[in-house]
Amino acid sequence: MLRVTVLATMVVLLLGSEEPAAAAEQYLGPCALAVSKDAKTLYVANHDARQVSWVALPAGKVTRRVDMPAEPTGLLLSPDAATLIVTCAAPKSTIAVLDAATGKLLRSIPAGHTATGAAISPDGKRLYVCNRFDNDVSVIDLAPGGKATRVKAVREPVAAAVTPDGKTALVANHLPNTRTDPFFMGDIAPMLTFIDAETLAIKNIPLPRGSINVRGLCVSPDGKYAYVTHLVCNFELTPVQVDVGWINSNVVSVVDVQQRKIINTVGLDETFQGAGNPWGVACTADGKTVCVTHAGSHELSVVHAASMAGKLYQMFTSTLVGAIAQDPRAGTYPPRRIELPGKGPRGLAVVGSKVYIAEFFSDTLAVVDLEAEADAVPTTIALGPKPQLTLRRRGQLLFHDASICYQHWQSCTSCHPDARTDALNWDLMNDGVGNFKNTKSMILVHRTPPMMAEGVRKSAEEAVRAGLSHILFADRPEEEAAAIDEYLKRLKPVASPHLVDGQLSPAAQRGKKLFEDRQVGCLSCHPAPLYTDLRKHNVGTRSPYGFVDDFDTPTLIEVWRSAPYLHDGRYLTVKDLLVEGKHGKQRGRVEKLSESEIADLVEFVLSL
Ligand code: HEC
Ligand code: HEC
Repeated sequence: MLRVTVLATMVVLLLGSEEPAAAAEQYLGPCALAVSKDAKTLYVANHDARQVSWVALPAGKVTRRVDMPAEPTGLLLSPDAATLIVTCAAPKSTIAVLDAATGKLLRSIPAGHTATGAAISPDGKRLYVCNRFDNDVSVIDLAPGGKATRVKAVREPVAAAVTPDGKTALVANHLPNTRTDPFFMGDIAPMLTFIDAETLAIKNIPLPRGSINVRGLCVSPDGKYAYVTHLVCNFELTPVQVDVGWINSNVVSVVDVQQRKIINTVGLDETFQGAGNPWGVACTADGKTVCVTHAGSHELSVVHAASMAGKLYQMFTSTLVGAIAQDPRAGTYPPRRIELPGKGPRGLAVVGSKVYIAEFFSDTLAVVDLEAEADAVPTTIALGPKPQLTLRRRGQLLFHDASICYQHWQSCTSCHPDARTDALNWDLMNDGVGNFKNTKSMILVHRTPPMMAEGVRKSAEEAVRAGLSHILFADRPEEEAAAIDEYLKRLKPVASPHLVDGQLSPAAQRGKKLFEDRQVGCLSCHPAPLYTDLRKHNVGTRSPYGFVDDFDTPTLIEVWRSAPYLHDGRYLTVKDLLVEGKHGKQRGRVEKLSESEIADLVEFVLSL
């Protein structure tokens, strides 16, 4: 149900809550925003409050709040500025179409699992919505009674953009979708999906090898270029240091839209200062300037667009990433970095010379004037009361915070986006050198000791503290580690996209019987409810590069989103693990299962 509340009642609601603990967690969590062309109104998606706020400009006053049916992940204004379109994320997402002037709900359109990153055609007739966990895109005809179709993306599409001629939609996938073991020779990179608006035919092109954590995408006003924010990882190097992008570089890739080609991957870091976790990206109306928020280092990069299209200087460890140098003869300028007043800048909107930025953890918007003096300090618009951070919330912020890392190069989320996995292998040195391990999700870590594929850390507490000192190269107070523990302990699994109305499908129900069948034997090592016996076993998975036979049994909760599988990521699918890998044969008859029994078993495992 949508409920319109004016600000005054909302304040009463917040303060009048009966449950103090819950009240303490009532954060707004602004994540995305849109601005009217006349620069008079801002529309802000407050993720955690499940709400959209209207902000009057230039006063910066919240004038309306409208409750949403689920967490809003993004919003956009229709080209005629009459309606506001909000993606509300759930296993069955809703696209709320609101009257931009009154906030009234005009229409609800169903979409897939965790709708996000919508884009609209310039004629306002067609909407593209990323269904992140269905790995597809809803293409919605907005005319009354118009139909919707689904187009396949690759893995976790998170952002879409449409060219000004309306002919092409681009979709950025968040993660690579490949095996990652040392024998795999293909591209390990997320794909950029091009959708032909007329035929809905798709073409996928890879970002540079080792790219992960794709967040933002926009198309230049002339339609020539697209800009994609992400990281480039040196996952084949041993992470002995974090300096000069040794582990992760923070970049924007420049795409030639016509040729469907990446022409440059531009490092936004400086030699001695990383610009952790690039997130949102937007162009000024003249297309000359590209603005990128850094959710980890709490900054805005202001980049000269023409310089990005030219030749770059290779200055980082990764040969794939170049930097723009100051060169008066070539007319190139390096990015300008602006420190922001709030924490966790994500979505942004540009109108005229003003950049408005949603600061997720501060419940504020930052306002940067691109024409102001270089040393001008950005101003702040408060969307609500100043948030008092609970221990859990503080842990969430710290987990996303690259400013606690030596030289701000990365945060825990650089490799564990959304506290899950980057789908890459790393050669962490806690278990020797040369034996790469696939990054693990943070789900249930405190309940599933020991940690790491070889069980070299006895608890999540120990792993968190080791991460701070050995991966962020920082000496942080115990209180911060305790806050991160609290955040990780309270992570909740996301419902699998394989469930049907929250229930096991008929195939998954048959698979459950097989999983629980003693003859098949999965349950002996993966018992419910955690689906791990918390022990190490030799399941014949040692690789030629490995030093040990025994591996910690992983939980199977959320295995649907943690591919590739096994300690070295050698299987892309659970089916490959069971059929090629004959996984489980030590305890049961997995080798004797028929093709349809395997399909059912896989469906069950992917439903957890
Ligand atoms: C450079 C990438 C990278 C960064 C940055 C990183 N991790 Fe990890 N993390 C990994 C990899 C890879 C593994 C799995 C290693 C293994 O299995 O041996 C892992 C495993 C873990 C585990 C154990 C999970 C389990 O189920 O066994 C915890 C807990 C963890 N990381 C916490 C953190 C925290 C907290 C931070 C930030 C302080 C962090 N990580 C930063 C790559 C990273
Ligand atoms: C003898 C104990 C044992 C049995 C029996 C067993 N597993 Fe496993 N399972 C493991 C271990 C240990 C690993 C991790 C191995 C590695 O990383 O190399 C694992 C990994 C997995 C993974 C990959 C998870 C990930 O995050 O990479 C899946 C999926 C899985 N098992 C499902 C099953 C199914 C389905 C069955 C029954 C057919 C089964 N297992 C039987 C111990 C077992």
